[in-house]
Amino acid sequence: MLFGKPKGILGLDIGTSTIKMVELEESKKKGYQLKNFGMSVLPKETIVNGVLKNASALVSAITNLTDNLKTKTKSVATAVSGHPVIIKKINIPTMSAKELSESIQWEAEQYIPFDLEEVNIDFQILGANEANPEQMDVLLVAAKKSLINEYADVISEAGLETAIVDIDSFALENAYEINYPDEESPVVALVDLGGSVININVLKEGKSTFTRDVFMGGNKLSEEIQKQMAVSEEEAEMLKLGGELENIDYGRLDGIIHDICLQLAVEVQRSLDLHAASTTEEEVGKIYISGGTSRIRGIRDLIAERVGVPVEYLDVFRTVKYDEALFDSEYIKEINPVAAVGLGLALRKLGD
Ligand SMILES: Nc1ncnc2c1ncn2[C@@H]1O[C@H](COP(=O)(O)OP(=O)(O)OP(=O)(O)O)[C@@H](O)[C@H]1O
Ligand SMILES: [Mg+2]
Repeated sequence: MLFGKPKGILGLDIGTSTIKMVELEESKKKGYQLKNFGMSVLPKETIVNGVLKNASALVSAITNLTDNLKTKTKSVATAVSGHPVIIKKINIPTMSAKELSESIQWEAEQYIPFDLEEVNIDFQILGANEANPEQMDVLLVAAKKSLINEYADVISEAGLETAIVDIDSFALENAYEINYPDEESPVVALVDLGGSVININVLKEGKSTFTRDVFMGGNKLSEEIQKQMAVSEEEAEMLKLGGELENIDYGRLDGIIHDICLQLAVEVQRSLDLHAASTTEEEVGKIYISGGTSRIRGIRDLIAERVGVPVEYLDVFRTVKYDEALFDSEYIKEINPVAAVGLGLALRKLGD
């Protein structure tokens, strides 16, 4: 556009606990570099089961971030996940992408439990079906228009414009891809443990072959601590993050944390069992975890133990660089687990 309108994009991850804003800079010489990062905690119940309950809280959280970051960029890439989204791998007769785009509505009808008028549909052709070469595997994605429109309204009320609406799991995939170009394991699972959702995405040679959202997360742990230890909501959150309070039975607290972590690990295990049952392909050789809840002590080892494969923390600053004069390495370490989805969104290009 004329007169140098900024052509950058802001990655905006609207989670159920926190929103994160990421801006990257790309240069030929240095590749991607972090330009801006901001995070803001949402009041409880701002978004419940994929329904936006408190739009004004979300608008002010976004405006807070843009005010603090002082960015001029207006275009936003955001994402939806969870209840309003359906992702399915389907087999259909081989055809071109153009042919499929003409018949996708018809194909989708049998797989999508929503009224087709209510959803946006997209697809990605994955390749020939292994068992039947006359068929191809297609990833079918449907997202409810209502939530997408609500997010777009909120974003415009906050003075920004929605350029791209993605899916959390796919943004996570992008963040992974840019940082692990040298991956040695042919099949990996990306597991984002958030406040209320676990997003699971299995990639084979870099292509998504299985995704699943499980409605469980770190908020459940806060609730259990609050209930079982008879403390306030704020105290429960503090205890979860390793804070100290008087008259607390820490043995009991550790027990609660362990129980919930085990439940989370079992959910991951179940999803990966489902994946294994759905394919004749190689099994997952490595798991990368991210999300705020991946920071709970012990959870990495529990997942590794249950699933029986190595688990690593996803490092989204493995190839993406940052200026050490602007961001100190302690801060980067702190934001690394929660930056993944937003960073994946910030990698999107206008016009994608
Ligand atoms: N150091 C920590 N130890 C334990 N839990 C933590 C820590 N830091 C953050 N959390 C928890 O992580 C959760 C928030 O993570 P995240 O920001 O990834 O979620 P979200 O993206 O808002 O939610 P979702 O993706 O489920 O919609 C909260 O439950 C928070 O209490
Ligand atoms: Mg999240």
